[in-house]
This record gives sequence, structure tokens and C-alpha cells, in this order.
Amino acid sequence: MASHFLLLGILAIVCSTALASDPSPLQDFCVADLTNPVLVNGLVCKNPKIVQAKDFSFSGLNLAGNTTNAVGSQVTPVFVAQLAGLNTLGISMARIDFAPGGINPPHTHPRASEILTVLHGTLNVGFVTSNPENRLIMKVLQTGDVFVFPQGLIHFQQNIGPTNAVAIAGLGSQNPGVITIANAVFGSNPKITSDLLAKAFQVNPYVINLIQSRF
Ligand SMILES: *[C@@H]1O[C@H](CO)[C@@H](O)[C@H](O)[C@H]1NC(C)=O
Repeated sequence: MASHFLLLGILAIVCSTALASDPSPLQDFCVADLTNPVLVNGLVCKNPKIVQAKDFSFSGLNLAGNTTNAVGSQVTPVFVAQLAGLNTLGISMARIDFAPGGINPPHTHPRASEILTVLHGTLNVGFVTSNPENRLIMKVLQTGDVFVFPQGLIHFQQNIGPTNAVAIAGLGSQNPGVITIANAVFGSNPKITSDLLAKAFQVNPYVINLIQSRF
């Protein structure tokens, strides 16, 4: 009996470490019923008999995002919230538009690796490895170049070309999540106290107050 529990324990550890992305589907598809109030890991399935082609489709990625904002970029997501048929499939995508000089600020996706293709323009992209190295891995990408951002790591893109830039990202989750570092740290609600952040960032609290006032 005890050995059974040991075996189950080992199995649980092996399985949990092997599942780095979304769980595998248990049926052909599970189109999300976005109106169902039941909360599960993922979203409740629509009755497969009433599913239509439009449940597997999204239109509009031909349209440029509006980059007139503080960072000069716009992400147009095609996640499960926009394309219900992605539910349980472990993939999604996004279009990212950049004005000249625009950035997609340092952020991380808690549930997905990301593979980015530059459709147009020149992007400086990078990610930082975890502690203690915190090594910056960075590259300039031209049209047609592809770059991968490993799951969970902080990454960014910057348009360093003279024109607008456009990229398409594939992500390994139906709902990758986004944590924008500046917004999470300096723009949380309620705020993280400035004395705590002052110690974390090794600056005077007034510097923290100044940054917090911008979010
Ligand atoms: C883009 O966003 C800016 C700022 O919110 C707004 O003033 C402008 O009208 C928008 N442009 C378009 C084409 O929607």
C-alpha cells in the first residue's frame, strides 16, 4: 500500500514537471462557451453538435493596430477570448504594430513561449535569463526573421527602423497571459509601498513616487 502511494507521488511529480504548457485536449475540440458562468481550468465547451466554422475563425489581423500611445506599439490578440475554438488547443497568436521608435515594453507570458516573425521592418528584440545570471540575449531582426522567447522570461521588442514595423507572434497557450513589468511593479492597485520599492530598486522613495505617478 505504501509503495502505491510512493508510486503515485512519483507519477504526480513526473507529470507536473512534464506539463509546461496547456493540458492536452480530451476530445477533437472544445469550442469555448464564452457566456457560460461555470469556472473550470480553461472554458466550458459548447455542444459540439452546434459548433460552426465561425467558431474556429477570427477576422481582422490585416488591420494595423493604433500605435498612437505612450509606448508606440499595439498588440492585437487572437487568444481564446477572441477565437473560442482555441479552447484546450494550447496555441494562440497576436499581431504587433510598432510606430518608428515604438517599443513593446518588458513583459512576460506566464503560460507560453512565444515565436515572433517580422513581417515588415527592423526590430531589436531580447529576453533576460533568470537569476543569478540575468543574461541579456538580444538580436536585431529584419523582415522574415524569426525569434523565440522562452516561457516566463522577461522580453521586449523595439522598432529601430525608419518605418512602421509589423510582427506576428505565435504563443503556446490559448490564454498566455501578459505581465508588463512596469505596470505590475509601479502601477499595481493598490500600490506597492514606495519604501518597499525604494529598497528593492536601491533608490530614494521620491524616485519611486515619480515613477508610480506615471502609471
Ligand atoms: C488612435 O488612438 C489615439 C489615442 O487614443 C486617438 O486619438 C486616435 O483617434 C486613434 N486613431 C484611430 C485611427 O483610431
